[in-house]
Amino acid sequence: MYQRSVHDPSGFWSDIASEFYWREKWGQQVYHENFDVRKGKIKIEWFKGGMTNICYNCLDRNIESGKGDKTAIYWEGNEPGLDSSMTYNQLLARVCQLANYLKDVGVHKGDAVVIYLPMLMELPIAMLACARIGAIHSVVFAGFSAESLAQRIIDCRPKVVITCNAVRRGSKIIYLKEIVDSALLESAQKGIVTDVCLTYENDSAMKKEMTKWTKGRDIWWQDVILKYPVTCDVEWVDAEDPLFLLYTSGSTGKPKGVLHTTGGYMVYTATTFKYAFDYKPTDIYWCTADCGWITGHSYVTYGPLLNGATVVVFEGAPNYPDVGRCWDIVDKYKVSIFYTAPTLVRSLMREGDEHVSRYSRKSLRVLGSVGEPINPSAWRWFFNVIGDARCPISDTWWQTETGGFMITPLPGAWPQKPGSATFPFFGVQPVIVDEKGVEIEGECSGYLCVKSSWPGAFRTLHGDHERYETTYFSAFPGYYFSGDGCSRDKDGYYWLTGRVDDVINVSGHRIGTAEVESALVSHPQCAEAAVVGVEHEVKGQGIYAFVTLVEGVPYSDDLRKSLVMVVRNQIGAFAAPDKIHWAPGLPKTRSGKIMRRILRKIASRQLDELGDTSTLADPTVVDQLIALADC
Ligand code: PRX
Repeated sequence: MYQRSVHDPSGFWSDIASEFYWREKWGQQVYHENFDVRKGKIKIEWFKGGMTNICYNCLDRNIESGKGDKTAIYWEGNEPGLDSSMTYNQLLARVCQLANYLKDVGVHKGDAVVIYLPMLMELPIAMLACARIGAIHSVVFAGFSAESLAQRIIDCRPKVVITCNAVRRGSKIIYLKEIVDSALLESAQKGIVTDVCLTYENDSAMKKEMTKWTKGRDIWWQDVILKYPVTCDVEWVDAEDPLFLLYTSGSTGKPKGVLHTTGGYMVYTATTFKYAFDYKPTDIYWCTADCGWITGHSYVTYGPLLNGATVVVFEGAPNYPDVGRCWDIVDKYKVSIFYTAPTLVRSLMREGDEHVSRYSRKSLRVLGSVGEPINPSAWRWFFNVIGDARCPISDTWWQTETGGFMITPLPGAWPQKPGSATFPFFGVQPVIVDEKGVEIEGECSGYLCVKSSWPGAFRTLHGDHERYETTYFSAFPGYYFSGDGCSRDKDGYYWLTGRVDDVINVSGHRIGTAEVESALVSHPQCAEAAVVGVEHEVKGQGIYAFVTLVEGVPYSDDLRKSLVMVVRNQIGAFAAPDKIHWAPGLPKTRSGKIMRRILRKIASRQLDELGDTSTLADPTVVDQLIALADC
């Protein structure tokens, strides 16, 4: 299949696409691409001219083939014992009601809707409702701060924002509606006014009477949705019409609005899900990712539902009420495919095997890992302890930009190597290039690029096609550059080694160093900041910030806390620096460029590997920084 996928991509992908429902078939050309900036504008199109709808393919198509009474979603609340479920028929009815409401308040094809919800069933419902009417959803992870949310609202100008009043995660309550209120205030001050804020009453966390309300703008979901019909006509869209925008971090302070379109994304997420997890109709599938990230888009919502799968959606935290919660859920729903991130594996590994072995887990069949390289010791623990040495692990390498898996094992198809994502998925032609952009063959290390398009590839960055071309296609002309380093061993296995740009991967979340730096320097007492990633036992990478204070300001513990707070408030708690390192001076070249290489070595205390510091404008700052390391 792989050979055919790369020698005859048109035939390969159109055969698979034909398994979906198309109102009208795509044109003569299955795909069109220009992958080379030297030949003009970068352009990727798949199935152009084909008219379809991804919501229809997830729900109506599966119902028509007899899966109406199959469970689509098992929802597990934060509190054990709080749960519910929904069949495909019920899910379609709920999606249609919301879709009708959205149409009624003026959401049309091509309009944006921002979704700021925790892992309630309403989150996939809202995504599917947007897709049904051709609206573009932009889900913002509900851990982002008001400022980050406002930034995204300002960029995509939604007609409606969908949220809930509050959520419980573990023992904490997060008041989401208050965050949305501040974000809407901030965006209104910048001239972007959102008319409707549809708010779900999550009464397990907070009663509606306690929620602050803006009359005329805020609407309770439960007050309106049930009044709408449970059927809703489908908006047939072109395969290349936008499906969603998802913001992700890059090497500058401004998040990038990654745009995915409908047809190619649909075919790709469904196919990758099916093969990389060896999906069978009797499987119960659980992906621990939040729908606020790409993993939740492609592998909580679209990929599984396109396959008619039963999906577990979990609202809570994996260590609440105790660290056995995941295995409790696995046993409760008889989960057979469990897909998670290395950070979760490492954090549970520290707690000891007994929290795992007291659960049966015999339903498990396939395990999956995503978000960052999985270190071999965590891989082995995942395999031996969680999977009782009988479940293959799909270590899936991919990105927000790629839409779906790019390099991944196919369970059982070839021998596993702990820590390697193994081989490319159908249609994917990875290449490793050197610094000059020259392809290297065989056993080697270098920069991971891709040679030609695949259906799930993103098509542009919202409102900034030029940034799309310069970020991804200009570094190594002729290729898509992933931003990752990679090596290939003598057997052809791929080993991802992490980001090679200014992006830090904290617990599988991408955070741009520039975003953290700009938050830090917005603190009135911070003059300059330089942020680097350091190895972290559980999170993979931690955030290490060097800060120079305004002249005359003394460094204190209170100041450190308020610097951390400014990042939490501007980006979100997940981006809070692990370490603030007071830096009266930063190592700079004579032309004023910060030498991050040296900062990385100081941050990881590899002091004997500082290298040549003689080119610095002031080499004494290095000794000063070392002396202040544990200050
Ligand atoms: O560095 C790679 C790492 O996560 C980055 C993509 O982050 P994001 O767009 O947020 O998507 C995360 C979920 C797909 C990549 O550039 N990454 C993701 N999966 C792996 C990985 N690194 C190594 N192995 C993986 N399996």
